[in-house]
Amino acid sequence: MRIAMIGTGYVGLVSGACFSEFGVDVVCVDKDADKIAMLDKGRMPIFEPGLEDLVRKNVEAGRLKFTTELGDAVRGADAVFIAVGTPSRRGDGHADLSYVYAAAAEIAEAVDGYTVVVTKSTVPVGTGREVERIIAETRADADVDVVSNPEFLREGSAIEDFMRPDRVVIGTRSGRAQEVMKALYRPLYLIETPIVFTSRQTSELIKYAANTFLATKITFINEIADLCEVVDADVQDVAKGIGLDGRIGGKFLHAGPGYGGSCFPKDTLALVRTAAEVGRPLRIVETVVDINAKRKPQMAEKVIEACDGNVDGKTVAILGVTFKPNTDDMRDSPSLDIVDKLKRAGAEIRAYDPEGMDEARDMMNGVTWCADAYDAMTGADAVVIITEWNEFRALDLEKAKSVLKAPVMIDLRNVYNPDDMAAAGFRYSCIGRSTVPPGPAE
Ligand code: UGA
Repeated sequence: MRIAMIGTGYVGLVSGACFSEFGVDVVCVDKDADKIAMLDKGRMPIFEPGLEDLVRKNVEAGRLKFTTELGDAVRGADAVFIAVGTPSRRGDGHADLSYVYAAAAEIAEAVDGYTVVVTKSTVPVGTGREVERIIAETRADADVDVVSNPEFLREGSAIEDFMRPDRVVIGTRSGRAQEVMKALYRPLYLIETPIVFTSRQTSELIKYAANTFLATKITFINEIADLCEVVDADVQDVAKGIGLDGRIGGKFLHAGPGYGGSCFPKDTLALVRTAAEVGRPLRIVETVVDINAKRKPQMAEKVIEACDGNVDGKTVAILGVTFKPNTDDMRDSPSLDIVDKLKRAGAEIRAYDPEGMDEARDMMNGVTWCADAYDAMTGADAVVIITEWNEFRALDLEKAKSVLKAPVMIDLRNVYNPDDMAAAGFRYSCIGRSTVPPGPAE
């Protein structure tokens, strides 16, 4: 089988590489010639564990190719996947579908023979219908079915998520299109992955409902964490205690500085807009969006509080700036709000991130970028863990103490244990766990 993957962003590149690993011939298309040139040289435009090896292996096997020529890739393909970006439209929070619609028109020009056009980008309910309309308008004789097949992969574990997903959702009522999709996902049938066949609109909504539910779950535990701090309870134990109930489940119950990334913030907002527009407002989700937006700058206040209420003229070390570990993605990362607010309160920032510093440099001015965690902590009045990279989980605490000006740690990911930190001589604050009452910094 042969497919074209339009867009080599996160979803497009990972899905294209993984389909080629399934044995499908894949041509990945992108308008950005520099990106294609880079991929042709075997260099990845994003950091994703395992991706470079997977791409190299399948390019060498002749199953994976890159091009800027959409027409060549689409002609003769069994399926064409649209995996272009759907960013939040400036001003109103709606998903910007202009790239999806432009791709649909270009695909229509090029298709020959029966072709399944699949939207993999996260698109609001009704987009598939519009894609179908655009294709029919551009080429009345085009023999296509338009299918929704949302992607549920997470950055940092994207390949594993694609290769061994919890489920695959396919939105189409066309038997012919279902057969093509089944053939593409055959390796997943063999490992008995549940495949949900449903209508196109339902499939489109499943994607938003999944991300929104997860964002709600995180926001719920974040609010419980805030309550824990006041009533002297421990959020980690609350999460365990409720998560062991099979109806709730223990995943996505890690309290932290608020969700970020390229998906949750954008998708929650887009769903709120869609629902309001059709007169069925989603009040829970509206509240989640609001709480999460306020939470990020609130984390800076937590840092200021831990620094005896004032960071003016003080130096704060930041460990981790990406929105989560194992990615270089800075989009909507809590670090952006936290660092901004600390700087406005007069703090000097020394920061380190294993992968995100290139991205972050353009987004955060006036930050001193450091060679490693200890370099960042050198001479700092406090250290803040914003992203739970593995290398921050096992810091040499004696060494950290010796380079810091004061042994103050604000751990926004609950990486460390409050008792251990107190024993190590740190004034330690974290999220939703009792800590040793702060005394004056030594
Ligand atoms: C998310 C979904 O998890 C994927 O299933 C989905 O395919 C993807 O969006 C998408 O729509 O493309 P991703 O944004 O890569 O994936 O990252 P997550 O691992 O979901 O984390 C999102 C944010 O929530 C991060 O800022 C993370 O730190 C935060 N988070 C996550 C918590 O604060 N607590 C948790 O328990 C889990």
